[in-house]
Amino acid sequence: MKIKSLLSVLLLFSASSLFAWNNDIIVSTPNTSLLLNAPKGGELKIVYFGEKIDNSEISQIYDSGIASHRAAYPVFGIDCQTEPALSVTHPDGNMSLDLEISDVTTAKETNATITTVTMKDKVYPFIVKINYKAYNNTDIIETWSEITNNEKKPVLLRKFASGYLPIRKGDVWLSHLYGSWADEGRLVQEELTPGMKVIKNKDGVRNSTTDHGEIMFSLDGKPQENSGRVIGAALCWSGNYKLSIDTDNNREHQFMAGINEENSEYKLTSKETFVTPELALTFSNEGLSGVSRNFHRWARVENKLHNGKKLRDILLNSWEGVYFDINEKGMDQMMGDISSMGGELFVMDDGWFGVKYPRKDDRSSLGDWSVDKNKLPNGVPGLVEAAKKHGIKFGIWIEPEMTNTVSELYEKHPDWVIHQSNRPLRTGRGGSQLVLDVSNPKVQDFIFSIVDNLMKENPDLYYIKWDANMSVANWGSSYLTADKQSHLMIDYHRGLRKVLERIRAKYPDLVIQACASGGGRATYGVLPYFDEFWVSDDTDALQRIYMQWGTSYFFPSNAMASHVSAAPNHQTGRIIPIKFRFDVAMTARLGMEIQPKNMTDKEKEFSKKAIEGYKQIRPIVQQGELYRLISPYDKKGVSSLMYTTEDKSQAVFFAYKLEHFCNQSIPRFTMKGLNPDKTYMITEMNVDGKPVFLDGKKIKGSILMNQGVELPLNSEYSSRVLKLTAL
Ligand code: DGJ
Repeated sequence: MKIKSLLSVLLLFSASSLFAWNNDIIVSTPNTSLLLNAPKGGELKIVYFGEKIDNSEISQIYDSGIASHRAAYPVFGIDCQTEPALSVTHPDGNMSLDLEISDVTTAKETNATITTVTMKDKVYPFIVKINYKAYNNTDIIETWSEITNNEKKPVLLRKFASGYLPIRKGDVWLSHLYGSWADEGRLVQEELTPGMKVIKNKDGVRNSTTDHGEIMFSLDGKPQENSGRVIGAALCWSGNYKLSIDTDNNREHQFMAGINEENSEYKLTSKETFVTPELALTFSNEGLSGVSRNFHRWARVENKLHNGKKLRDILLNSWEGVYFDINEKGMDQMMGDISSMGGELFVMDDGWFGVKYPRKDDRSSLGDWSVDKNKLPNGVPGLVEAAKKHGIKFGIWIEPEMTNTVSELYEKHPDWVIHQSNRPLRTGRGGSQLVLDVSNPKVQDFIFSIVDNLMKENPDLYYIKWDANMSVANWGSSYLTADKQSHLMIDYHRGLRKVLERIRAKYPDLVIQACASGGGRATYGVLPYFDEFWVSDDTDALQRIYMQWGTSYFFPSNAMASHVSAAPNHQTGRIIPIKFRFDVAMTARLGMEIQPKNMTDKEKEFSKKAIEGYKQIRPIVQQGELYRLISPYDKKGVSSLMYTTEDKSQAVFFAYKLEHFCNQSIPRFTMKGLNPDKTYMITEMNVDGKPVFLDGKKIKGSILMNQGVELPLNSEYSSRVLKLTAL
């Protein structure tokens, strides 16, 4: 770590000494550029963000009239009519900043170049550095700021955005995600009109159950999946956030994103530097799907998703199969069943722990992470061994940031929970759940020890499902001092990050799933430490099409845990054929969430074949390029998407019927991402009955992409999966 930072310092010096600092600075990735204007002694401006340009084109950006003349990071206090990115109160009560550029440096890292613009206040010893990190191999530019107080007393940070981007006014549309428990990742698309649009989270723990901290701007009118210029943005923060777009009477929409400053004003002590989370920006002229591919590539290649390039195992999770009814015999039966269907991993969910207070339901025991020997006489080691005998791996569920009022942990450490000592406790799930105060280093050590103890006892434990099922209700910390209570929501997430960093330093290969009441932690704020996330507690295949469609806007398929569950479905009661359930789950990281002993022999046989098939297409789905074709939100009665390998030699195509009427006309499916000059052999997968007429046909990429294919989707819940292999 020390050597690494020394190296980057050396690089910073050498690069900055060679760096010719012009007023106009191009920050570029392989296909995109951000043009900054940074005159010494002047104000930093963002002039352009879009397709890649070179030095010779800078003047043309100005000449064509498309240049923006907006501040790159507007600060409050002097003639600031826009929404500020930064506002502070100095110790003397002055509420203004007046920044001028004092330096620009570049530092080369192996995978990226960081351009840093340093700005100083003209009166106060107060420094703001704006960073732009441009990746060499993926089209993402991360921006964040570093705010340093060199004054003698604390400065109050009232607003402290990560980044700011002016977007030219025109027919600009926004795509973003919203939802609720069991209905996460819903897509909404709307035209930007004058006024403020604010997307926010205040949960404290789960920051994607409702709105998402990622958005896309379609610059050429109504959003299109595969055409048009699109800007994408993702805030890399696990806590409360605020994204805002201010469209006023000027020529731009002003987009800003950062930690939600509401009730979180930060007292920056003398000599302290506040580093904001990163805001990842990208641009594509291949529509929304193009921006998604940029995010997916970045996540995988730069490990913004932990172990992003690794293929994920096919698992069975016990939750919907047995809920809290955990016992050794039952776990053994489920392990045997998933193994016989070709699965590779079994995960034991909630209900395995608690000695003084055994966990029978959701009303007790969180925090008491010792096995309940009445349920599991041979403990976790016994289960890890049993899994080995079945030829599979073993995983376990924990909810480490939480406790219950009924627990040994709470009895011992009542001060470890987030609470206000002079007010009654407001509890969550089960009427007794509480959130631990992760800003407290002792709590951080405790959380680390949960994972560490499990791993020490079970070195072969392969997977952890890390859950979090409550929001912050009692805003107050007995660890933070009275004057720093408003730091809680920042220090909680900094504390969480510290724990996760420790876990990753010691257990880099442990597979960890981020779960938070379902899809509450689909965020790049935690994904560098997690291999995947649970998309939703709703496993209904039809509803999943909508949720997974939305979630795929920002997150790659190998991050999205997608499980085949029972019929009738436990959340919606819908009865959907096993084929459709598999065809949906196979578009992401396939798993099962079912009691196999209740499945029919036919269903088991189908599952076995589907799992075998998924193993063949796994590299295409989990590492391929996603092209979304027909959106379920477009109400065409069908939905379709496909993945292609980078070299376009293989692809998998998925189509689903979403509604069922007599004489319904099914639209043509035009494919994308293939090589127009290659001929592809089509093989139907997950065949249930007679294969579709396309099976075995050889068709040129140009025909598949320009003319498309027509598919019979006759019955209710019809679906098709086609594998394409270039000849
Ligand atoms: C909420 C999760 O989303 C579920 O998958 C399951 O793990 C339960 N918690 C267990 O309590």
